[in-house]
Amino acid sequence: MQVGYQRMTINAVAGDIKNLIKAGRLADAGQAAYQAAVTGRADGDTLGLGAAAAYQAGADGLALELFSRLDAQRALDAGQWAMMGHAAERLGVSRIALPAYHRSLDLEPGDAAVHYNLGSLQLRRHQWTEAITHLRAACDARPDWQPAWENLAQALVGTEHYETVVPFLADCMARFPDNLVFAFQHAAALLHMGDRSGAEAAYRDLTARLPDNAVAWAGLAAAIIQDGRKDAAAALIADAAAKGARSHDLDEMAATLKLDAGDADAATASYEAILAAKPDHRLARVNLIDALVQAGDHKRALKVCDDRLAAVPGDPEMLAYRAIVMTDMGQAEAAEAFLPPSLIMGHRPLAPDGFASLADFNKAMVRHILDHPSLVPSPPSHATVAGRHTGSLVCDPWGPMTQFKDMIAEAARAYRRRHRNSTHPVFTRWSDEYSLTVWAVEMNAGGHQMPHIHPSGFLSGVYYPQLPAQVTDPDDTNGFIEFFQAPEQFALRHPPRLQLFPPEEGVMYLFPSAYFHRTIPFTGDGTRISVAFDLVAL
Ligand SMILES: [Fe+2]
Repeated sequence: MQVGYQRMTINAVAGDIKNLIKAGRLADAGQAAYQAAVTGRADGDTLGLGAAAAYQAGADGLALELFSRLDAQRALDAGQWAMMGHAAERLGVSRIALPAYHRSLDLEPGDAAVHYNLGSLQLRRHQWTEAITHLRAACDARPDWQPAWENLAQALVGTEHYETVVPFLADCMARFPDNLVFAFQHAAALLHMGDRSGAEAAYRDLTARLPDNAVAWAGLAAAIIQDGRKDAAAALIADAAAKGARSHDLDEMAATLKLDAGDADAATASYEAILAAKPDHRLARVNLIDALVQAGDHKRALKVCDDRLAAVPGDPEMLAYRAIVMTDMGQAEAAEAFLPPSLIMGHRPLAPDGFASLADFNKAMVRHILDHPSLVPSPPSHATVAGRHTGSLVCDPWGPMTQFKDMIAEAARAYRRRHRNSTHPVFTRWSDEYSLTVWAVEMNAGGHQMPHIHPSGFLSGVYYPQLPAQVTDPDDTNGFIEFFQAPEQFALRHPPRLQLFPPEEGVMYLFPSAYFHRTIPFTGDGTRISVAFDLVAL
């Protein structure tokens, strides 16, 4: 299509566009309005008609351009702002979608559809508090609209504030007894919060209602495995298959039960079959590597890692597992070069606005964490042993986390600057647009965290607002953070090269999410409080 000058009167343009719309040629109508606009001949009616036509035709870039030009001529109405928001959302331009939806709601505060769209967009961006506000408004405006309730439930689950989530889901189950989405969410919430018997009962109920539903059986099997009854779980998965419930997830669980029982060959064959059918199956891949390492088949283990890294260069799990395979082959030095310790950064932030010192800020943070409604003892399935952890800290109640969010953003910028010339594959995942996951861990004597990575993020970190004196003592490593220890199930033939750092009040460590890390137990009095975070690319 040319962007040339065509002489025509404004009324004729509007008439042409109406005719095109009448003929069902919506994209052409949008394009005609654009032609008129760039030749300086489009009035507000022309732009409004063309923008709506382009939006309806799914020509979202064109719709945005036309709405933007209309905005320069006269005020958009609520429906036009809503269309603009939706067009921007479909293009993935949240920067425009979010304010456009807000402008629509300023004009028509009770519009359920706009609240739903805005809340669902915020849900996808992990902005839990905002998502909850707008999805709740959508539910209030249309109390029988189940998709709005489903997304509201999803946003509440995102906060991991289970003390609120579980009663809410129970209420939804009573409100919509035929909608099993809520029953699945309820069962999953019980499992995540460590209520194994509650989760088992909930999933058992779902398998009775939906005997051939593999998700229900996989949830039930997970609850039973968490409870340590592995034989019962294996029998259950066989029973599910007999009832017609099969899935890659159930196959993966069955394979891992075989691996745990010492049958690495059978497990390997199962994992390979799953990956042949579903190359994206994360757990099948990492557990395949585990099985191959156990069997001493390093060559195949490396091939699994390298094939995946060729397809997804920064895959955090594959970077982490490749280093473990190399270590087990006796190549600790090469493993260290592969995941260099220089990518771990210690950082001391400045005291944020509103606080006289970092010590004052830390006190406020400790109070916030210890009073936090989501603070609960960590369930046995959790990486934290003998400790308590919170749900999300980046939602209501915000408290000092408002400032902490900015401190993390500043630290991430410092990190990126320091490594601006790095070509390490961890940076292929870097995104300046990210959502932030933040939670706190409280540990007393004996408490520790098992080696783990944070596979959903690209950059992770930890900050220490309060530490017992003995933990900061550089003469012993009690309570330290340690990098590159492999998880327990890898009985490594050669030791890894470890990196140990002393926690220090007011100090942050930032590191690629692919780096295995753990905390070393400490003895004596006092409470070690750490705040962990992940930057997740959007
Ligand atoms: Fe961690």
